[in-house]
Amino acid sequence: MESEQQIFIGSSENMKALNVPKNARLIITSPPYWNLKDYGHPDEIGKESYDDYLERMVTVFDQCYEHSHENAILAINLAHRRKNKVYRPIMWDLYAAMQKNGSKWKLIDNIIWYKPNELPQPNFYIERLLDNKFEYVLVFAKNYNYDYIFNKIRVPQKWLGKDPRKEKQNPNGRCISNIIRIPAYRPPNLKKMNYHQAAFPEELVQFFVDLYTNEGDTIMDPFVGSGTTLKVAKSMNRAGIGIEINPNNSKLIYERISENYEPVPYTKIDLIHSSTGTVEEHSKLNKGKRRRLVRIEEK
Ligand SMILES: C[S@@+](CC[C@H](N)C(=O)[O-])C[C@H]1O[C@@H](n2cnc3c(N)ncnc32)[C@H](O)[C@@H]1O
Repeated sequence: MESEQQIFIGSSENMKALNVPKNARLIITSPPYWNLKDYGHPDEIGKESYDDYLERMVTVFDQCYEHSHENAILAINLAHRRKNKVYRPIMWDLYAAMQKNGSKWKLIDNIIWYKPNELPQPNFYIERLLDNKFEYVLVFAKNYNYDYIFNKIRVPQKWLGKDPRKEKQNPNGRCISNIIRIPAYRPPNLKKMNYHQAAFPEELVQFFVDLYTNEGDTIMDPFVGSGTTLKVAKSMNRAGIGIEINPNNSKLIYERISENYEPVPYTKIDLIHSSTGTVEEHSKLNKGKRRRLVRIEEK
């Protein structure tokens, strides 16, 4: 199946002027944080005052509402930003700003992306803070009718067949949790390709593509950056729409779309839950533990 990937160069604050199609079933994006990175364009979002930043972000997500499928899902990857010791909960401030401005998006879920290997930020030591290891993904739907696509992701149950309580067993496996564990990394070839900005992991995009779309559907990213969303969309047989303000990114986006992404098994993503894994994997993993347990009982 050939899945078309379209790139629009311009500000996602004005999708009408860019003629962005209105068929995306999933909008997945990692917006610029406030006052953090310079993406090299004078009109990029993130350099203005905090209030103006929130206002511009609200405009983008209003545009996403108007330029998407009637049953679309919007997934925004965000976290807090600390500047001059002031903690800015961007995710909640954005949500409040959306509410205040009459956004039609309905918040339906909040997923934690746990990054076990996230490096500590140097000033966190000085300021007596714990290292941050997670980000949020806020999930919005167009209404509360639950008519969006939802493909529940399941992984093998650890004790399937061993637990005598039949009602606890599901031959299809257990549901994946809302804490997804994906190591923080940049796709390794990105640096070589001269992109030093905040790309999100392909696995994060894969998770939402699987959850909220089917093959042949369209995915949109209004802050497409290096093109991660389009690369994953193409490899998973979805069409893609990417919007990026900096024209210098086009070449990189095209290059990344031409690469293949091999989706990873969910037993590797959702490791936070103790009962994830195949029965074989777990019997191997727990061998030592069971022996210890027996020794304690013998005392
Ligand atoms: C955090 S990066 C996105 C990285 C992307 N998820 C990836 O994997 O490469 C944010 C991107 O938004 C772009 N951007 C900033 N303001 C924009 C606007 N008004 N419209 C479209 N893109 C914008 C920046 O140039 C930057 O590439």
